Amino acid sequence: MSSASADSVRVHLRTYGCQMNVLDSQIITGLLETAGFSVVEDEAEADAFLFNTCSVRDLSERKVLGKLGQLRHARARRPELVFGVCGCMAELSGERLLHKNPHVDFVCGTNCRSHIPSLLVGALQRRLDIAHVTRHNACHLERLRGALASLLARIPPIETNCLIGTAIPEGLDERVARRPHPWHAYVEIMRGCSNFCSYCVVPYARGPEVSRPMDEILRELEQLAAAGCVEVTLLGQNVNSYGRDLEGRSRFALLLRRVSEIPGIRWVRFLTSNPYDISEELVETVASSPKICHQIHFPLQSGSDRILRAMNRKYTCAEYLEKVARIRSAVPDMAFSSDFIVGFPGETEEDFAATYAAMEQVKFANAFIFKYSARRGTAAAALPDDVPRHVKEARHQALLALQSKHTLLAHEAHVGSHVEVLVEGPSKRNPEMLQGRTSRFFNVIFPGQSWWAGTFRTVRVTHATPLALYAEPTA
Ligand code: SAH
Ligand code: SF4
Ligand code: F3S
Repeated sequence: MSSASADSVRVHLRTYGCQMNVLDSQIITGLLETAGFSVVEDEAEADAFLFNTCSVRDLSERKVLGKLGQLRHARARRPELVFGVCGCMAELSGERLLHKNPHVDFVCGTNCRSHIPSLLVGALQRRLDIAHVTRHNACHLERLRGALASLLARIPPIETNCLIGTAIPEGLDERVARRPHPWHAYVEIMRGCSNFCSYCVVPYARGPEVSRPMDEILRELEQLAAAGCVEVTLLGQNVNSYGRDLEGRSRFALLLRRVSEIPGIRWVRFLTSNPYDISEELVETVASSPKICHQIHFPLQSGSDRILRAMNRKYTCAEYLEKVARIRSAVPDMAFSSDFIVGFPGETEEDFAATYAAMEQVKFANAFIFKYSARRGTAAAALPDDVPRHVKEARHQALLALQSKHTLLAHEAHVGSHVEVLVEGPSKRNPEMLQGRTSRFFNVIFPGQSWWAGTFRTVRVTHATPLALYAEPTA
């Protein structure tokens, strides 16, 4: 993020949710900076707040609403402050959100990111029209009016306060994204989702699956590589079906091969791979390309076939386990991670036991475990949310404990060995140390020089905890 320039409108952008939203915020930052705004980290400096939101669970929405509620008081003191909401929650509950939070100036859905600068200009113009000059704010308002005038010379303001429901993605040039580090890039290969898992809002929040043309993705990656990018994470809600909407069949394996040919890029990752349509071609591609990392996020969700059917996941637990076995036979050191939902409507002790057993069998390197949260508009919302809260909680804790054991086992298996890491920077827990990731996406903490960030290093693992591997540099 840039620091505030004296005469520009300062926007504080807060991001909630998944990697898609992180990338969307990088794109929005680029759009704003190109338009002449400054994006600032410090809330106290902000002239405008923009929330890039998530609706995947009730808790995700409550986080946003809590923060929005807190900031309502800032508006009472500073009527010129602008509040905008974009992302999944804006798309799903735009009108309702405006109604319940009268201090929100505009909502902007997921497929109209390119309009955010114009929406901000329109909202700022409206706020400045009603802000009264007092002894305390005269200078500040004068600065803002000057900044607005220079924006208005280039950007048409949008009068509406609600821009949602545009299911088809805009033809936005995503190369505008401002990434925090030159060595890593999230790159979107498709938007939306057409899978309609019965619990999930994503298809409604993001619209149908739309793949980006392969040439466009490769051009973006070539430019990133030329600018020093060594690691990419290709993003899509289900990358396995990349290209199906364009050519009638998946082109994901081909895309991976083409990405792997780009000079400079050393590690290729992808997210997320839905188990129902992972192909043999993809498994062979991962096995045969040394650049594709041996890490796969492969969400099982539940080990019970009855629940999987009710979730509309399109695979059985046995099919899932067969796919895991097939991948392991081709790529023996593949690190699997998964998502699980506990307490889906009708989940019995027996269903839960099947999930627990599947987790014990696969021994995931990592897993994200969620308590079912009924989402308005989804198919599962019509089912009674009948697993009592304390039962959901107990199942959640049981899976967390089991996963923690498996993560520790996976970590301990590294002790004594040398691993290559891509250094990310100072460790979040201990800034004296560095943090990096192995190709299998294990988190490693080790001492070193701050300028190592963005470089590959080989370190020797000395011990492990459920959270990380600890290592020392090798000579
Ligand atoms: N496209 C990705 C998932 C994106 S949502 C995939 O198919 O894996 C991330 C995770 O959130 C899901 O895998 C699921 O485990 C969880 N999730 C989604 N909707 C949920 C809900 N209504 N309640 C609880 N967890 C949910
Ligand atoms: Fe949601 Fe299923 Fe699409 Fe993933 S594949 S985003 S869980 S509907
Ligand atoms: Fe949340 Fe939207 Fe991602 S609902 S999980 S931010 S696609």
